[in-house]
Amino acid sequence: MKYIFFLVPVLVLALSSCGSKKDTTSSEEFVVNDGSATASDPIAEGEKLVAGSDCKTCHHSVNKLIGPAHTEVAKKYEFTAANVSMLAQKIIQGGQGVWGQIPMTAHPDITVADAEKMARYVLSLDGEKEH
Ligand code: HEC
Repeated sequence: MKYIFFLVPVLVLALSSCGSKKDTTSSEEFVVNDGSATASDPIAEGEKLVAGSDCKTCHHSVNKLIGPAHTEVAKKYEFTAANVSMLAQKIIQGGQGVWGQIPMTAHPDITVADAEKMARYVLSLDGEKEH
């Protein structure tokens, strides 16, 4: 059912943009679409942020590379607000000693809000919901 609610506004937008080709509303519509899709799902947004950063150099979702598989991280920690902020700090500051002696590099350019979305995505990988 959720699907239908999502499709209806898309169809309305598609129809209205056909009817008004001559004005310049189409780029605005893209911005509106983008905003609503990401704001509604921080985990999906976190997945995109992880995919767009350097995380995949060292982390695979299910296999150990230089760093632990993100699914293993999800199994180790409960999906709580406290662990979201703890892992977000670790993503920003880097660190070592929890999974072995290989250090994780710091990511000072990532904001706390983005790091928390990344942490939520990682913690969701074992199927657990935030509680
Ligand atoms: C240079 C390699 C490298 C990169 C790049 C990297 N990591 Fe890591 N990551 C590691 C290693 C190594 C560890 C284990 C650190 C430890 O043992 O404390 C780790 C641990 C983690 C943990 C678990 C932390 C804990 O305390 O249990 C999370 C979550 C994580 N990384 C997320 C990310 C995200 C998200 C990114 C991208 C922004 C990223 N990592 C980029 C190497 C990396």
